[in-house]
Parts: sequence; C-alpha cells; structure tokens
Amino acid sequence: MMRLSPFFALLGCALSAVAAPSAPTAAAALPTSTAKVSGLHALAKQAGKLYFGTATDNGELTNQPYVAVLNNGQMFGQITAANSMKWDATEPEQGVFTFTQGDQIAALAQPMGRLLRGHNCVWHSQLPSWVTSSNFNAAQLTSVIQNHCGTLVGHYKGKTYAWDVVNEPFNDDGTFQSNVFFNTLGQNFIPIALKAARAADPNAKLYINEFNIEGTGAKATAMKNLVKSLKAQGVPIDGVGLQSHFIVGEVPTTLVENMREFTALGIEVAITELDIRMTLPETAALLEQQQKDYQTVVAACQAVPGCVGITLWDFTDEFSWVPGTFPNMGAACPWDANLVRKPGFDGIVAGF
Ligand code: XIL
Repeated sequence: MMRLSPFFALLGCALSAVAAPSAPTAAAALPTSTAKVSGLHALAKQAGKLYFGTATDNGELTNQPYVAVLNNGQMFGQITAANSMKWDATEPEQGVFTFTQGDQIAALAQPMGRLLRGHNCVWHSQLPSWVTSSNFNAAQLTSVIQNHCGTLVGHYKGKTYAWDVVNEPFNDDGTFQSNVFFNTLGQNFIPIALKAARAADPNAKLYINEFNIEGTGAKATAMKNLVKSLKAQGVPIDGVGLQSHFIVGEVPTTLVENMREFTALGIEVAITELDIRMTLPETAALLEQQQKDYQTVVAACQAVPGCVGITLWDFTDEFSWVPGTFPNMGAACPWDANLVRKPGFDGIVAGF
C-alpha cells in the first residue's frame, strides 16, 4: 500500500492510465492529512494549554527531514528524551554519571524556549544490573535512589518543566509492581524519590507516570489513592502522567471523568506518551478511526483545565517504538514513515 499526497495521487493515476496500467492506482492510496495549520503547539497554546510536544531520541537527530519537523517551534513546544535520561543511560555504573546524550536532547528545547519533560528517575525497566543485582539493603537502596534522583534532577535544574520521578509503579490490577525498589523498600521508594527530586530542583513539577490509568478502573484508583496518601504525608507530588499508548478503536470512554478525578486531588495531569497503534496493514478505515481516536484524546485534555499538555511518543512511524514492542502492530503516529501527515494529524487539530 502506498500513501500519496493528493498531488502525487493524481499524478500516479494519470501515469498509470497512460504508461503502466498494472501499477497501483489512487484507489489503493491511503488517505492523508488535509488540515492547514501552522503547528500543533501553536494550536495548543491558542486553546489555553501549556504545550504540545514530542519524544525524540539521539539516534534520530542525524535525519535532516525529521529534525526539520522536530525543530519547528510552532509544531512542538515541548521535548521528552525517549531513552537518554533513563537510569541505564545516565548512571550505568554506580556513581558514574553520563549526561552527554541527555544534554543533546535538552539542548533541543533550551535555545527555543521549549519545555523539557525529564523522563525518568526511578523505573524497574532500563535499569543497569548494578542496581538490581547488588542485594542492597533498605538503607543502601535509599541512598542509591537519593543519589540517582538528586544528581539527575540536579543536573537539569532550571531546565525542566517537569520530571517523571517515578515511572510505572503499578500492575494493571492496582497492586504495586514487584521490582527491586518495591521489594526492598515497600512503597516508601516513592516518597524517597520525590523528596530527592524536590530538593534537587524545587521548581520542577514532580510527576508519577503510568500506563493504563487513562480511563477509570483499578489501576487508576490505585494511583488516586497513592496521590491522596502522598499528599496526606506532605510528600511533594504535582502531577500524574497518563502515558496514553492506545489501540485504534479502543480509547477508553472515561478519559474526561478520570482526568477530572485526578485534578480534583489538587494535582495536574498531562498526556505524556501518546500514540494510537493498529494491527497492520494500515487501511483507510483504520486511519479514519485513528483520526477520530486522536481527536477524542486531545478533546478530552482540552475539556479538563488541569490537563496541561500533550506529548507524542515520537511523531513519525519511522521512529515509533510500537513495531519493536507489539508484534504485527504499528502505524501509531500522526506522521507516516515518510513524514507525510496522516488523518490522525487532522484528528489532533480538530481536538483543540
Ligand atoms: C520506550 C522507548 O521508546 C524505546 O526506545 C525503548 O526501547 C523502551 O522504552 N513507557 C515509557 C517509555 O515510560 O519510557 C517507554 O519508552 C515506552 C513505554
């Protein structure tokens, strides 16, 4: 299947009529965006949001056409490092910090006055083996977390709008994920990380980020209870990140209600890792549904004043994490692998 912009679709049709009757015709072409807007971040700002942004990764920054879209400040007013601020990237050996790659991503935000979201301090994944295999006792692991979060957040002090201080603490049933942090410290690892982050950069918003909490349910309830308990203990917590890795046709119907319940706790929410995947191959029908789904998600954030912004988990299918993670799935982003805007782009525009 080919995706053709209207001009090339017409040209392809004409050519196939004249020269190559067996070549693919416009009938096989997939629909593309028709929206005429200067940029999604510009739209988000007009709509009263702080930002519309994207994740990006170091290896992608040699692709000039990609970087041209990435560095359009009207399009993206916020940047997240998809990998290079994670624990394995920043403290691969105990006490040895490497910020070169993270700094390269931070530098994409700074000169243009774009916002940076730090991602992330404490997560059970992409963790170097020295953290998991050293059999640290509670006191030792506490100081390991304090040193990691303090140094990482401190390095970017004054440069980050927000930090995902804790990533993915829960199982889908709302119980805590079994990992070195929870198994050694119980849920105390969360206040330990949040307090270290606050001390390192008092002005950064401190978030807990999670997936499958975008709609109401056991996991979202567990997160709300955690936020309540942190607030009751005087632990700093400013926001909850709704990752929003959705499937076409399966966006939760309770987005708005759920976001309102979170913001009623006195915190903000953000859509931090939006993509909407489908089982391949792409079809016109799936792309139309994806357009509606993007619109639904953006409109939900728009409907809730405490939803501050939206971040795509990269903007092009070329660099999406989806095909490498979910077998037979992909096409999750609003730009296709050739940087042609898809109907999903128009869904985002319509949502604001
Ligand atoms: C993903 C990255 O995009 C991939 O490149 C990497 O191989 C694995 O991690 N939830 C998160 C992100 O919080 O950090 C994950 O990012 C995607 C799921």
